[in-house]
Amino acid sequence: STFDFAANLFPLSSTADGAGYAPIGAPTATTGGGGIARRNGRSLEKHKTLTYLNGLSLVVGLIIGSGIFSTPSQVNSKVGSPGAGLVVWVIAGVLAWTGAASYAELGGAIPLNGGAQVYLAKIIGELAGFLFTWSAVLVLKPGSSAIIAIIMGEYLVRAAVGAEAEELSPWINKVVALLGVFAVTFLNSVSTRLGTRMNDMLMFLKFVALIGVTVIGIVVAATGYSFKGSANMDWKTHEWFEGTSSDISAWAVALYAGLWAYDGWDNTNYVVGEFRNPTRDLPRVIHTAMPLVIISYCLANAAYFLVLPLETINSSNTVAVMFGSQVFGPIGALVIAIIVSASCFGALNASTFTSSRIVYVAGKEGYIPSVFGRIGIGSTGTNPTPSQLNTIRTRGWFLKKLRSIVADDEDTNLFFTPVFALILNATLTATYVLVGEFGTLLTFYGVAGYTFYFITVLGLIILRVKEPNLERPYKTWITTPIIFCCVSLFLLSRAVFAQPLQTLIVVAFVVAGIPVYFWRIRGRDHVGKREGMGAAMFDPYETDGLTGDGRPP
Ligand code: ARG
Repeated sequence: STFDFAANLFPLSSTADGAGYAPIGAPTATTGGGGIARRNGRSLEKHKTLTYLNGLSLVVGLIIGSGIFSTPSQVNSKVGSPGAGLVVWVIAGVLAWTGAASYAELGGAIPLNGGAQVYLAKIIGELAGFLFTWSAVLVLKPGSSAIIAIIMGEYLVRAAVGAEAEELSPWINKVVALLGVFAVTFLNSVSTRLGTRMNDMLMFLKFVALIGVTVIGIVVAATGYSFKGSANMDWKTHEWFEGTSSDISAWAVALYAGLWAYDGWDNTNYVVGEFRNPTRDLPRVIHTAMPLVIISYCLANAAYFLVLPLETINSSNTVAVMFGSQVFGPIGALVIAIIVSASCFGALNASTFTSSRIVYVAGKEGYIPSVFGRIGIGSTGTNPTPSQLNTIRTRGWFLKKLRSIVADDEDTNLFFTPVFALILNATLTATYVLVGEFGTLLTFYGVAGYTFYFITVLGLIILRVKEPNLERPYKTWITTPIIFCCVSLFLLSRAVFAQPLQTLIVVAFVVAGIPVYFWRIRGRDHVGKREGMGAAMFDPYETDGLTGDGRPP
């Protein structure tokens, strides 16, 4: 007989449907009725663990990753002057903020895991939601994770062997990147809490790093003191706006680079359903995270400018390391390389957490095999015998130890995670790390990602018109989504003209999802009829017997 490891550790009867587990705006749900997820009692939405701080560290942890430490060169060399570079950082940040605020409204109105997928399904139709999931699961999420992992690998190798890193085979970087992918996958499989705690810790490290860079920049600028002990340094004086480019396309490219550094602002939306108090916390998270990130990015850039010559900033992909070595010498370079890889590791960790939730939702919807929508390891639905339970509780020093570190109480949390979704995500990420080509991944990411952001935020406007009375615990100014839509449309149109071929590939990939959708839907109906699966398979908004509006049927 199959022994259900996860069920043994966590008989769900002890966690299901307690007070405080109900989605917002709804009375406490009960476990009556069909629905496969409900019948075996396992649904992530029921297990609400995320607090305001978790949300903040999740989104900040995901946003501050590789970008701010390596893309300033691309921003700056394109627009031509330090002042214009800073302007781009502000514009990109504000754009990300308007997007995030719009998503916060959607997340409040439709408080379910899954992000754009559930919004698009509700507003435009299930096909649109599916196509988002199709792109996100197969390419966007694992692709962006792969990029972050590779950058992490580069910095770690650089920290280990110093400047000679350049001469080593790129495969060494890739192997390190793969190790990182496995590590975060393991962490997130073991426990949601372990993953989120990791985020909390790393978030502080990142702020310390960025504040450190800023303070050092100011000290160096003000005193001319070089910590290297050698000759004093000059305060770099620039003609801040001299040489500013007037080429619109160049600005668009710079903006894309800046947007990569700010990207990830939509990620709290994938896990809205797991917040203890999403109505209150989602907007709070967004409105603290975004200004914090914007300010620290601008300060860090200003510090780079104060310490480094323009040519260095414009030509180096490791600006932060250059900064460290300019001020402190080799030791500085080493420390910064370690911090940047830790920062990337944190972004990878946070990104893995949210990716697994998209895959999980896709599995629950029947878009991909249902195993990916499963929580925990082992077969579902069978409860352990008391003696099995006892065995698992008393045996295994390691498991007990682990549980004492990560679990709220004895029966919850350990491996209460979408393990199979995590494995699928890790497999795809690893594949992209191995075969992926940077530029291609990045372009695909920018164009496909912003297409869906654009459509989703446009959806917010449509929803305001279509359902003016829908309960919206948080409402942004209407100008917010409008600004976002206009700017992202401009960016997308630029990409179409600048890189028609890549754009075509993106479109072809998304369109290829359409037949897959109809195939999956047919399979789903068939399975549903045969096995009598209930609403979980048919109603995309189903959580705990509630309708899509979060109200009981
Ligand atoms: N902003 C991050 C960085 O600078 C990249 C985020 C990628 N996006 C994502 N959803 N994983 O590295």
